[in-house]
Amino acid sequence: MLKLKIEGSRRLCGELEMQGAKNSVLPIMSACALIDSKILLKRCPKLSDVYAAAQILTSLGCRCKRTHEGMEIDASALESSAISDPLMRLMRSSVIFMGALIGRCGECSITYPGGCELGPRPIDIHLDALRQLGAQITERHGTLVCKAPKGLKGTLINLSFPSVGATENIMLAACTAQGETVISNAAREPEIVDLAEFLNGCGASIKGAGEARIAIKGVTSLHGCEYTIMPDRIAAATFMCAAASTGGEISLKGARARDIEAFINTLRQSGCKIYETENGIYLSANGRPKAVRPIRTQPFPGFPTDAQALAMAYMSIADGTTIFIEDIFENRFRHVDELARMGAQIKTEGRVAVVSGVKRLSGASVKAPDLRGGAALCIAGCAAEGETIISNVELIDRGYEEIENSLSLLGAAIKRI
Ligand code: EPZ
Repeated sequence: MLKLKIEGSRRLCGELEMQGAKNSVLPIMSACALIDSKILLKRCPKLSDVYAAAQILTSLGCRCKRTHEGMEIDASALESSAISDPLMRLMRSSVIFMGALIGRCGECSITYPGGCELGPRPIDIHLDALRQLGAQITERHGTLVCKAPKGLKGTLINLSFPSVGATENIMLAACTAQGETVISNAAREPEIVDLAEFLNGCGASIKGAGEARIAIKGVTSLHGCEYTIMPDRIAAATFMCAAASTGGEISLKGARARDIEAFINTLRQSGCKIYETENGIYLSANGRPKAVRPIRTQPFPGFPTDAQALAMAYMSIADGTTIFIEDIFENRFRHVDELARMGAQIKTEGRVAVVSGVKRLSGASVKAPDLRGGAALCIAGCAAEGETIISNVELIDRGYEEIENSLSLLGAAIKRI
């Protein structure tokens, strides 16, 4: 089992190039199943979730090839619309293939993407929306069989919650549906804008991405394109917390401050100096962080739930008490017990966590509970006194390109064992 070994208490300083965004490249790779010609995705990150998405595309008959420029995908030879259970279980966002496969083939068969570390991860909003577009979906023994014999028909869809995945699934299904689809209460995350820009680059007609109301005019066909994936805003937040937790100073090349304004505001409250530069974000910490106003996770543009664990690791050494309210997922405090093993003082009650900052964490053997919880343990390990061993590193590899190389570049004493 792979582990990371970190010798803490080193100031992290230096410059990092941001990887492509995991939560943008995954829906964009699903979108490729809609398009029967070649696509080149530049700044495609080397992540296990990306490899899983490539395995799913290959199982459908598509060709995926990583070249020095990025990921080349050719779905012209797509010959199946069924995704096997083992492949579906490789990652959560496999459900996004539904919209693309129904849009391309008029049908699809996938298994329920099982619950995962963050809670049950229901897909009721996805299914309800696809049914409103005319898909007939039957659920039998964990398999979802979808048919749209007469194709899909555009309509107005009001989302009960601005679900990122559901918004993406609808955009994919609506691209080649008859007529116009309007999504009201759509997710506004930057990854939604990236997906829309990619699809419009392939000939789709999508307006309003990034707003709460998105209009998609169905087109008869889509063509290939070359697209550069947006920079990963949560990876940027991760390295900013790592630098801030060690009193360091970093520049993140390619990072876009506008994608994480609420998060940047929180780090400024803690005492960091953060500037937007012409090619990224600059951060310098000054001494021990101060506790900040309560952090409540929200849909974009609010504080991102994916940065909650990262900020908690950082606030566990702050001067004062910080309150976290996790309003998006029902089980996203699994990193708390692991941080406590390193000396963090955290009390949780349902969706609320109260973090009483301590002067110093101490290294310990800990287990990554999920992707962002694992990244939070890397942050804590860099700040702690002594040695930290993190197991379940494969969970971290789902979303970070060789995290130990990035942290080493900033001066951390970290290695994979
Ligand atoms: C995307 O997940 C991201 N994943 C998540 O990042 C991110 O945390 C999340 O959006 C919120 O920003 C990818 O993009 C691959 P949601 P998604 O649908 O689409 C409930 C990471 O660490 N819900 O907006 O699954 C759901 O249970 C990952 O990179 C329903 O109830 O998020 C959750 O409580 C973690 N029914 C909330 O909505 C549904 O049909 C947010 O889910 C769909 C969602």
